Amino acid sequence: MLEKTLLERSHVPFSGQGSACLIEGKKGFLYPGVRLEISSFPISISSVQAAVCSCLANQDEPISVKWFGNKPELFDFWCDLFRLSEMKKQAESLSLYDPMISTSDPDILLQTLLDFAVTPASDFPVSALLEIHVNDQTAWVPGVNVEPGPWSLGLCAERVAVSRALSAGYDPSGIMKIHAPKAEFSSPCGACRQVLFETMPNYDLELFHGDGSRSRHTVFDLLPMSFLSTSLQKDLRENKPDHS
Ligand code: THU
Repeated sequence: MLEKTLLERSHVPFSGQGSACLIEGKKGFLYPGVRLEISSFPISISSVQAAVCSCLANQDEPISVKWFGNKPELFDFWCDLFRLSEMKKQAESLSLYDPMISTSDPDILLQTLLDFAVTPASDFPVSALLEIHVNDQTAWVPGVNVEPGPWSLGLCAERVAVSRALSAGYDPSGIMKIHAPKAEFSSPCGACRQVLFETMPNYDLELFHGDGSRSRHTVFDLLPMSFLSTSLQKDLRENKPDHS
């Protein structure tokens, strides 16, 4: 049941190959992660990367793992990096981590969230809050940047928030607040802009700058002339006429 639900959450418009993962953390939570494919393939997020980063972003330590569907990309690498064992416990005996937070003051939460950033390499904390709606109530999914070891395999705060939301079955449905107190000007990197463009194109970003000022922008405006190609979509490709 959980397996089917998680696989359905994977966002795989290009490969059509669902992949999901569960990481058991030392705190007793089970962190879900689903594959998130982006039209610029190299910035896609593997299901195990999503689950491990969600765990680390909750100041937790990954201890065991289980996967469903297609084997997650770089699975053996993540297992070696954190010496993950195969999950023996029944998933149902652990509580599924739910990233949703209800708060009347998300701007304060954005500040306190900075303490969760995992930044041994950069010492440059970033926090992000993604608005969702649950039972007609506004709630937030938090993200912080995570540097697990190799620089290229960590995730920015914005991508942790988006992949956590999708892995938990929440649709982005409002703004994303982003705070990088050590930046001259808080602004999502190019890779995050592409991910945000493909997952929440019609929403705004509210940027909280180091000097206390703020600015608001649409995701669309932050990525003019963005990369997209319908020819990458698997279902369209399969229906193409054969010119051979
Ligand atoms: N970072 C973010 O979290 N968001 C961005 O949009 C820019 C960069 C993080 C990634 C890394 O942990 C640190 O900032 C330095 O690049």
